[in-house]
Amino acid sequence: MSLPQAPADERPQLRIGMIGYSFMGEAHSQGWRVAPKFFDLPLNPVMQTIVGRNQKAVAQAATRLGWKTYATDWRTVVESDEVDLIDVCTPGDTHAEIAIAALRAGKHVLCEKPLANSVAEAEEMAAAAEEAAKTGAKAMVGFTYRRVPAVALAREMIAAGKIGPIRQVRAQYLQDWLADENAPLAWRLDKEKAGSGALGDIGAHIIDLTQYMTGESITGVTGMLETFVKERPVAVASSGLSGEAGTERGPVTVDDAALFLARFSGGAIATFEATRFAWGRKNAIRIEINGTKGSIAFDFEDMNVLEYYDAGDDQQTAGYRRIIATEDVHPYVAAWWPPGHGLGYEHGFVHQAADLVRDIAEKKQPLPSFSDGLAVQRVLAAVEKSSDAGTVWTDVS
Ligand SMILES: NC(=O)c1ccc[n+]([C@@H]2O[C@H](COP(=O)([O-])OP(=O)(O)OC[C@H]3O[C@@H](n4cnc5c(N)ncnc54)[C@H](O)[C@@H]3O)[C@@H](O)[C@H]2O)c1
Repeated sequence: MSLPQAPADERPQLRIGMIGYSFMGEAHSQGWRVAPKFFDLPLNPVMQTIVGRNQKAVAQAATRLGWKTYATDWRTVVESDEVDLIDVCTPGDTHAEIAIAALRAGKHVLCEKPLANSVAEAEEMAAAAEEAAKTGAKAMVGFTYRRVPAVALAREMIAAGKIGPIRQVRAQYLQDWLADENAPLAWRLDKEKAGSGALGDIGAHIIDLTQYMTGESITGVTGMLETFVKERPVAVASSGLSGEAGTERGPVTVDDAALFLARFSGGAIATFEATRFAWGRKNAIRIEINGTKGSIAFDFEDMNVLEYYDAGDDQQTAGYRRIIATEDVHPYVAAWWPPGHGLGYEHGFVHQAADLVRDIAEKKQPLPSFSDGLAVQRVLAAVEKSSDAGTVWTDVS
């Protein structure tokens, strides 16, 4: 006897075409796959087509990650009427061309960060997004860490005045995967492909995060970039942060570490540090914000926790409170597990997919927009310009 069939999903579909299937391609696949299972979404995201240049590898990725069809040229998918949204998970040198073509073809776009490799490209992308918005296409940039519940909670608390007007911001993004001088020369170390090094790869995240958390924008910077290891064995295979070194050597054309001071529009001053040479720090995004009434601190290596200090507390018992951001009242958490049953790296991608699907259904501008991505790009450019000029003060134009 056959058992009753589960009812079909009646929701309208949002068919996804995703370009790139490595680190971010896997993370975004997880986002698309899981979002409709845990979030009550008005549209059903369908993993329609995955794109990669190697036919055998992309076919295998389609099966492994759960995509219905695959293609070897992103242009076919951008033009396909079987796809509604293009998800760009490729290196920075391809973002502008793919995203602009997709927007002009009337598709919604999710584009990985940093938005582009230059301000000029980012401006073109933001203009294309604005134009496409007139006919209903939505564009969003993938600054995923905004969607960590503790980070979103910090923004809510700051907006509610819990720490008062902001005086200082301290932001670090610390990794160590390049500290080994023989780590291979992959695309992230090639200026043509990546735009910049630690600055654009991970510095971009803390620029976006601090602007998002404070609700203010960075108005000027003074920066210092350094490349410690000038030459490395060329990668024969690479994916995400790992790769296999060959025997040939080649030049590193981007920064290994980026440091800068900044001023925010509300009057706060800030220090930023982005490096892939901090031995022992794997993915430490540390943000501490001091206001007139208290402080907030976050470290991604303890991502379910937000620290909060209330200067109004009784002096005898005052101290940083460790808020475990896993309660139903915290952003995104009601869709998940009971309190204390923590979330991980991939959940940011699930939240990103869920938010985007909802905004498309509700015809709202998803955030961060391409204009927000452009704002980050302008800060990156100002830091580079400042460093090139000998660490001089540079306004963010
Ligand atoms: N949101 C985040 O937290 C986060 C984290 C890591 C990377 N990123 C960003 O995601 C993007 C991709 O990084 P990654 O770590 O996934 O890199 P990766 O090297 O792991 O994967 C890149 C993928 O793009 C494919 N690709 C490259 N050029 C292509 C082309 N012309 N056509 C089709 N496919 C092409 C590669 O084959 C590969 O599948 C970058 O912009 C990076 O900055 C974002």
